[in-house]
Parts: sequence; C-alpha cells; structure tokens
Amino acid sequence: MADLPPNHHADYPQFTGLFGYIAGLTMVTGRTRDARLVADMADVDAADRVVDIGCGPGTAVRVAAKRGARVTGLDPSEPMLRLARLLTRLRRPAGEITWVRAGAEDMRLPDASFDVCWSLATVHHWPELEAGMDEVERVLRPGATFIALEKQAAPGATGNASHGWTPQQAHTFAGMLRSRGFTPVEVTNHDLGRRQVVTVAATAPQG
Ligand SMILES: C[S@@+](CC[C@H](N)C(=O)[O-])C[C@H]1O[C@@H](n2cnc3c(N)ncnc32)[C@H](O)[C@@H]1O
Repeated sequence: MADLPPNHHADYPQFTGLFGYIAGLTMVTGRTRDARLVADMADVDAADRVVDIGCGPGTAVRVAAKRGARVTGLDPSEPMLRLARLLTRLRRPAGEITWVRAGAEDMRLPDASFDVCWSLATVHHWPELEAGMDEVERVLRPGATFIALEKQAAPGATGNASHGWTPQQAHTFAGMLRSRGFTPVEVTNHDLGRRQVVTVAATAPQG
C-alpha cells in the first residue's frame, strides 16, 4: 500500500455554508477529552499564550481559556467561527480569547508570539502542509510546544474512518518536524474511551 501524506484530505471540501454549520454541530460534543489531553500535555496555565489552528467550534480554545490562558482560535471557516463565538458566549471561560479567520498556511499572527500551538483533527486537511509548518515555526517562541492530534486510522480506511492518521502518517509528520529542528518529537497513542487518538508533540527549535 502506498504511503499517504499527513494531509491526505487536503482536497476535502471547505467547511462553508450549510455544510460548515452541520459539520460544526457534529463537533460540538465528544471532543472535550481530546482538548483536555493536549492542554494537560502542554501544561497550559494562565501564563501561556495559545493558538489553536483549525479550532472548529472552539472546544480546545475554551479548555485553554478556562485555565486562564490567552488563546487565539484560528479557522478558515466562517460557520465554524460563528459556532465557536456563540458557544463561548454561553459558556464564558476565564481567559482572553481572540478569533481569527485564516488557514494554517497564512495565519496572519505575529512572529514568535505563542508558548503553545496545537491543531486537533485538522492537519490531515491542510492544503499546503509545508507552508502550514512554516507558519507554526514562525509564530512559536523558541522552545515552545507544538502538538498535532489526530484520530487513529487503520491503513486502508475509507470514509469517515480515514479522517485521521495511520501510524505511518504520524511518523512521517514527526520526521518533518525533526527535519525542521524541532526536538524532542514524540508520537504517542492514547485511548480516550470512545476515541483512540495519536499525538505528535514537539518542542520548537531554541533559535
Ligand atoms: C474535523 S474539524 C476539527 C475541529 C476542531 N479542531 C475539533 O477538534 O473539534 C477540522 C477543522 O479544520 C479546519 N480547516 C480546514 N482547512 C484548514 C486550514 N487550511 N487551516 C486550518 N484549519 C483548517 C476546518 O475549517 C475545521 O474547522
């Protein structure tokens, strides 16, 4: 079986219009454990500035904000950001939140301005993987934490089950980070009960 790139769903339709709202609503529940996992791994607290790339309806943004962090939720989809703003108004987490409509490949955020960057279930959609990684590297402070989380996918999976990473894809992505000077870079499988996910956690180059 041919190796798949980490962004094998780069040509998936954008989350726009009615489809964007329906897709966003399906992500409103069932993601809190993913969000808590990355927040725990990054040890997020009130001293941190966090950016969530592809934040969708904003679950992980609110988890970080509840811990007092200053958080930027970034997503190219207007329906996702509308849902994120609405849910956040209802739930009122503590930290300061900024929403930015942009893709990973052109974040429109200042250089070296974040302590933590994560991307949950989105790298497999990035249309320009190298450009997205350039941006991650640019916005992170030296020594900052980057975590990509994806659902575990079996080799050869199709349909919804393919919206994640096989072990090969996770390790390919880890190798891309290492070749950019991120170190250490760790690939870990997690059993979250209803969801099995894989994380690639990395420390940004020291500069
Ligand atoms: C499966 S959803 C995950 C949403 C959220 N991170 C979560 O776990 O609930 C994928 C998200 O990636 C976003 N996305 C698509 N293309 C993107 C890009 N080029 N850069 C950043 N995010 C993108 C979509 O708009 C969507 O919100």
